[in-house]
Amino acid sequence: MDIKALLEKNLPPEVLEVLKDVGERARRYGREVYLVGGVVRDLFLGRENLDLDVVIEGDAIGLTKELAEKYRVRMVSHIRFGTAKLRFNSFALDVATARTESYGHPGALPTVRPGTILEDLKRRDFSINAMAVCLTLGRFGELFDPLGGKEDLDRRLVRVLHERSFIDDATRILRGIRYEQRLDFRFEEGTERLLRRDVKMLHTISGDRLRHELERTLEEGEPEKAFRRAGELGVLRELHPALKGDGWLVRMFRRARQGGTKPPAELYLCLLCYRLTEREAEQFLEHLNFPARMTKAVLDTVRLRQKTDELSSEGVKPSVVYKLLHGYDSTAIRANLLAAESPLVKRHLQLYLSKLRYVRTLLDGVDLAVLGVPMGPATGEALNALRAAKLDGEVRTRRDEVEFVRSRFLKQD
Ligand code: CTP
Repeated sequence: MDIKALLEKNLPPEVLEVLKDVGERARRYGREVYLVGGVVRDLFLGRENLDLDVVIEGDAIGLTKELAEKYRVRMVSHIRFGTAKLRFNSFALDVATARTESYGHPGALPTVRPGTILEDLKRRDFSINAMAVCLTLGRFGELFDPLGGKEDLDRRLVRVLHERSFIDDATRILRGIRYEQRLDFRFEEGTERLLRRDVKMLHTISGDRLRHELERTLEEGEPEKAFRRAGELGVLRELHPALKGDGWLVRMFRRARQGGTKPPAELYLCLLCYRLTEREAEQFLEHLNFPARMTKAVLDTVRLRQKTDELSSEGVKPSVVYKLLHGYDSTAIRANLLAAESPLVKRHLQLYLSKLRYVRTLLDGVDLAVLGVPMGPATGEALNALRAAKLDGEVRTRRDEVEFVRSRFLKQD
């Protein structure tokens, strides 16, 4: 296979220019440099991937500094790991020193030391992510695939590289599911057996790392596929025993995309947690250390679910809908709108989101003071009553509002 031609056909010219430059510099230093990981996998699959990973058998940070200066782009380096990242306008380039890894204990972050490209590929998660294309001038476009990645790619298989892979790093369980479902691949038989055997090792992973993987899964085009598979493989219940990746969840996630746009990850998360009790949701959110904003959205979802019955009858006034929903996170309301079964509940939630929440009175606190309403709690009370009247169509004009305040909140002579 002519990989040089494939690179030239599939990568934008500005990316190719930088990769060739990298290869020339490496040649000057007498080092070998490779394109590795997801971008090589996606190159063969014809999928766009502008997150490029390059590995050099030598000093990555020195090379990256030269590139940052030449192309005038920002560089972020991690000296401890020997890695650096460059952010170009249209793509990102990670440069790392080839390395070997060892794990002190399951789930630990690996201890790294410099190694060869072969060692670097062997430490990776799956064979399809462990192929390298040489960039060094003179060898540009040579495929280095000692672990059978291309064959697995052709057979559409996700395969780990050794028997302890999921034990060393159980985040690979979630990563593997993501690749399988995104690419419409299958776990190789032995790999699936190991995954089922080691699914409990997810306990060794910190909440922050689990959350990161979950968030990446929620960013997928059709995340429901990964959640259904995670349910099937017993992975979801390791995150929380009450989570389910069943047909209901699949339907809800698809509903969330019905408008044609990609929903925010937060909405999917609210749907994932919709059926949990408040206590269960709290445990899950705490375990994965979700930030305050997400936590509020999820807890509001669950709390609101318990109240939507109050919106299920015909005669509920707009002001009552407003009072019930005001203060709830809007993503939580959207999640309830998607998940509610009753058409009336849906209609009321929709009405709030599209209209009621934006209703403002024409008079404000200062106007009320001028009219003679005493400043303090009475102001809030009067404004609330005024907004309710406006929501219910009892007042329309400024004059109506003045009248309303006079008749209700001011002593008539
Ligand atoms: N990698 C790994 N084990 C991990 C994380 C990463 O072996 N736990 C390796 C894989 O070779 C992967 C590469 O590092 O291809 C880059 O990682 P990442 O950017 O997370 O993966 P991509 O394959 O680029 O993922 P995606 O397509 O989802 O962006």
